[in-house]
Amino acid sequence: MYVRGKGITASRTSVNRPKSDNITWNQATIGREQREEQLGQRGCVLWLTGLSGSGKSTVARAVETALLKRGRLAYVLDGDNLRHGLNADLGFSAEDRDENIRRVGEVAGLFADAGAITLVSFISPYRAARERARQAAPEGRFLEIYLDVDLAECERRDPKGLYERVRAGEIKNFTGVDAPYELPTEPALVLRTAELSVSESVAAILDLLVEQGFFPADAGTQRGRSV
Ligand code: ADX
Repeated sequence: MYVRGKGITASRTSVNRPKSDNITWNQATIGREQREEQLGQRGCVLWLTGLSGSGKSTVARAVETALLKRGRLAYVLDGDNLRHGLNADLGFSAEDRDENIRRVGEVAGLFADAGAITLVSFISPYRAARERARQAAPEGRFLEIYLDVDLAECERRDPKGLYERVRAGEIKNFTGVDAPYELPTEPALVLRTAELSVSESVAAILDLLVEQGFFPADAGTQRGRSV
């Protein structure tokens, strides 16, 4: 059962206090446990955070593919993609980034409640915003994964040609250059993607999922090694 308020701190409740008092919480008839039994997995949020170009989307997509190939329900919520729709009204000021993360945190929590292994690939540079996202997820179902790649390497990769434009002065407030990135303090996993292949990163994430009991280590997974 996804009870609003369960595992959610008072401070978060006040952050997200509804504007109207005239609303109530509608309880599901079929709870999360029953949905998860049907799916044979436990819903969770895998929160990939790191600089632009650190490999978040690449790793998230590869994990999604590996899980879907194993018959698991997985879905990627990608920063660039959500900024085309749900978050199309937001830019890159600190306030807009916070709102961006608040919204995706809520959506990811709902996906996890639906039983999906939910991969979030957002820079999410602010620690407090990531903490709020953790609180929006069902309790114990939020795993922060830090893609630890230094700025020089991200700039060298420059997959979208954005760093070049930043250096040319065309883009301001760019994370890691003239906007902050606050390091995770206790991530569940650190991936140094400059030293790992994509399949090694995928294997590390699948191992983590099995270890934490989000799906069983059956013959198909071999603790995530057979990507
Ligand atoms: S976040 O900071 O609010 O979490 P988000 O993950 O949604 O960012 O979007 C980041 C993507 O937007 C980057 O991968 C990059 O392609 C693009 N982008 C455009 N402008 C900026 C900027 N000023 N800082 C960071 N990323 C930017």
